[in-house]
Order: sequence, then structure tokens, then C-alpha cells
Amino acid sequence: MSQRNEKIAIVGSGLIGRSWAMLFAAVGYKVTLYDIETSQIVTALKDIEQQLKTLQHSGLLRGKLNASEQFDCIKATVNLQEALKDAIFVQECVPENLELKRKVWKGVDDLLPIGSETILSSSTSTFMPSLFSEHLINKQNIIVSHPVNPPYYVPLVEIVPAPWTKPDIAKKTRKIMEEIGQSPVSLSREIEGFALNRIQYAILNETWNLVADGILDVKDVDKVMSDGLGMRYAFLGTLETTHLNAEGFKNYCERYSNTIHAVSQTFKPLPKFEGVLVGEIAEQLEKEIPLEKLQERRNWRDACLTKLSQLKKKMNETD
Ligand code: NAI
Repeated sequence: MSQRNEKIAIVGSGLIGRSWAMLFAAVGYKVTLYDIETSQIVTALKDIEQQLKTLQHSGLLRGKLNASEQFDCIKATVNLQEALKDAIFVQECVPENLELKRKVWKGVDDLLPIGSETILSSSTSTFMPSLFSEHLINKQNIIVSHPVNPPYYVPLVEIVPAPWTKPDIAKKTRKIMEEIGQSPVSLSREIEGFALNRIQYAILNETWNLVADGILDVKDVDKVMSDGLGMRYAFLGTLETTHLNAEGFKNYCERYSNTIHAVSQTFKPLPKFEGVLVGEIAEQLEKEIPLEKLQERRNWRDACLTKLSQLKKKMNETD
């Protein structure tokens, strides 16, 4: 794979913008990083160069180009027009603020011709695309491509269309995500929280209730995921897990549907994460990981995810 001619524009060169730049450059796309802050793009380029070198050194660099060839694919600018010129795909990565997203997308839209083919993709974690695209002339090209941090090792991307997104835009986005080695899922329509956060919140709510009722303490409730369910879920989804836990999914439902229903009926109403329990959970967490050690623990998490992604790759190759 050598450098290619198609260009990607990344709007916002923070944590996620840099990750996207590296993912696209890994397969040879020409990438232009745009930011309003000159200091941000200077820092971003230095950081990306360093990250690519470190990845190469530890044998974790993606793609077939070496670190310096990948770095050569990435340019940076504080001129939005220059960033957008000839871009086939724009990935917006500005802070999670709805008014800002609306403003930034308007700025991008104003610089594109009516009927542009350029895909307008947002990294937003929480905003449905209709919320920041209704006012755009090219709103039929809007899509959310929501990554998971750190995207270099956690490949999921949620692709979420607005009601007015052309179906072809969602299909092309999925193809591009597959091409850069990510693992896209395509939602048929927008929904609050997309899929990942809806599932995450369901788990968080029950976790909160188990602690609130004094059934488990913080350390043990977290072990249920890290040493139990999470071990499987790193490789299988919830549904495939059930399929394997019985003689297929139909048999699982025959065996367990009554139990699941009966247990689920004992679930408490949805909690709100407020009140004294917030302090109690925080205290137990901080006893294990004080706030000043959060970064150290994040680094450990990322090292674990790196190893896990290598293992997953190896296991998939031996399928
Ligand atoms: P960040 O704060 O690290 O970076 C934001 C960048 O946008 C900064 O470089 C800032 O200078 C730039 N910026 C601000 N206003 C701008 C403008 N008007 N035009 C161009 N650039 C501008 O934010 P981060 O963490 O990279 O998040 C970006 C997006 O990605 C958010 O929507 C966030 O919800 C989403 N996301 C973040 C994840 C994370 O774990 N950090 C995970 C998944 C999605």
C-alpha cells in the first residue's frame, strides 16, 4: 500500500483528531488536520510523529507504510478552506458542545459547493446528527462516525445517519471505516446514546443499584465485568454468548426466558447518579486509584488494550 490521492480533512486536532489522522495515514490517505489554534496543530504534529515512531519501534504500527511515510501523509493548517479543498471525507473532532458543532459545520458547509459529494462525518459521542445539521445546505451528506477511545486499539465505530442522510453516505462511510481497519456498525436511524452508550448505561444503572442496595461493594461489582462478563465480551457479543451457553439461541430462550424475565422484573427503577452514594463510590474508587494516579492507570489500561487487540487479531487469524 503506497500513498494515495484521496484526501481526508480532520477538523479539530485534539486527542480524537490525532487518532483519526493516524488511522487514515496508516492506509496512505492524504490527511489535512485543521484547528483554530496554531499551537494545537504544532503540538498535534509533534505528538503524532512521536506516536508513530513509538508504534513502529514496538512493532504495533498499522499498515504497510513505515512511520515516516505515514507521517508524510499528514499535513496541518489553520485555514479551513485549504483543509477542505478536494477532501472526499471530513471528520469533525471539535469539543463536545452542540452550539460549537453547529457553528463549525456551518463553516464547513459554507465552503462546499451545493450538491457536494464530500462526506460530512462527526466524531460526536452524544449528539444525534439531526441536532447539528438541520441548517446545512449539504445536510444529506451528514453522518456520525463515533469512535471509541483509544481508536487505534478499540476498533468500533458507530455509524449514525440523520433522517435526511442519503443512504449511500452511510454505506460509503462504512466502507471507508472497514478500509482503514476499524470495525463499523451501522445504525438504521439516529437514537439517543447510539448503541454503545445505551448498552453501557444499562450496565451502569444495574451496577449502581447493586451498590446502592449494599449487595456488592465497588471493587467486587467491578470484578463482575473485568473478571467475568468482560472476559467473554472482549471476544463475543451478548447474543453470541447466549448462543454458545446453550445448544443455540432457540434452546437458550427455551431454557432461560422465564428466569431472565423473572429476574428482570426485580430490577429497580432507573437510578439518577446523585446524592450520598456518589461520594461513597468515589471514595472507594479513589482508595484504589487516587485522582493523581488516574493518568498512570489510563496508561496501564491502554497497554492492556494494546495487548488485547494483538490477541484478538491473532485469534481471528487462526479462525
Ligand atoms: P479535544 O478537546 O482533545 O480536542 C478538540 C480540538 O478541537 C482541540 O484541538 C481544539 O483546539 C479544537 N477546536 C476547538 N474549536 C475548534 C473550531 N472551531 N474549529 C476547529 N477546531 C477547533 O477533544 P477530543 O477528546 O478529541 O473530542 C473531540 C470529539 O470526539 C468530541 O465530539 C468527543 O465527544 C468525541 N469523542 C471523544 C472521545 C474521547 O475519549 N476523548 C471518544 C469518542 C468520541
